[in-house]
Amino acid sequence: MTGRLEEVAAAWRSAKYPVMFTGAGMSTESGLPDFRSARGLWKQRPESLATMTALRREPGEFYFFYQWRIARLWAAVPNTGHEALAALAAAGFVKLLITQNVDGLHQRAGSDAVELHGTLRTVSCLECGAGYDSRTLLPAAAGWEDDYRAGRYLPGKECACSACGGGLRPDVVLFGESLPAAAWETAERASRAADFFVVVGSSLAVGPANLCPEFALANGARLVIINQEATHLDDRAEWVFRDRAAGVLAALRERIIG
Ligand code: APR
Repeated sequence: MTGRLEEVAAAWRSAKYPVMFTGAGMSTESGLPDFRSARGLWKQRPESLATMTALRREPGEFYFFYQWRIARLWAAVPNTGHEALAALAAAGFVKLLITQNVDGLHQRAGSDAVELHGTLRTVSCLECGAGYDSRTLLPAAAGWEDDYRAGRYLPGKECACSACGGGLRPDVVLFGESLPAAAWETAERASRAADFFVVVGSSLAVGPANLCPEFALANGARLVIINQEATHLDDRAEWVFRDRAAGVLAALRERIIG
């Protein structure tokens, strides 16, 4: 792998418009599950849970799913991969970091990140639009996860807006919803201008986010994919690292900025 790391480091150093594109595989080494690998969230629960229909029809399942993720999100810390990208950006080697992740770990590592799928760091009221830190949604009672497993769980007042009593929702893009227009526009523009594009920890299974590497390829960009499983763009990538994101990014950071 060393030779290929040297090649990628040299290409990255000479790139005029390097763009990063990350997915849930960026945060598994921080203890947050991804979605589609063997231990992914969609292997344990149906994707249909991440919809407004689920919020309306099965609020208990919906709220527990997001409370479970919010509790882990705030307990997680950025890993050496997040830190490597932040250091490379600070040294001028990242024009834009586009992320599908909602965990805020890139930002906590010091990166600016365009969040295509919103954020789980905040929730907002469906009625009046009031916004809150997502820890607002966590039940006050200890043992709420055990209550759920014992069938005793019921979403409580923590799921209601303290201003108007309306229902709260996570500020993530749910399936069937549009991406935030400004975020998408910024990501598309940068992807179309990229001459070097790095995909990290994404199955590239979800559109329209997965169009970003295609926009870059259409611009003649050199594509790097760092992912533990195959993606449909592997054969169009100049380099594919079937390896842990944090390790590869830390090794590249070492070679590019020391
Ligand atoms: N290093 C490298 N790759 C990893 C690591 C790791 N440490 N851990 C997991 N992976 C890989 C997995 O093998 C998988 O191919 O990361 C990929 C993550 O893919 P998904 O779970 O599909 O996550 P993502 O691509 O971010 O999903 C996109 O789907 O459900 C929606 O909104 C959700 O933003 C998410 C979107």
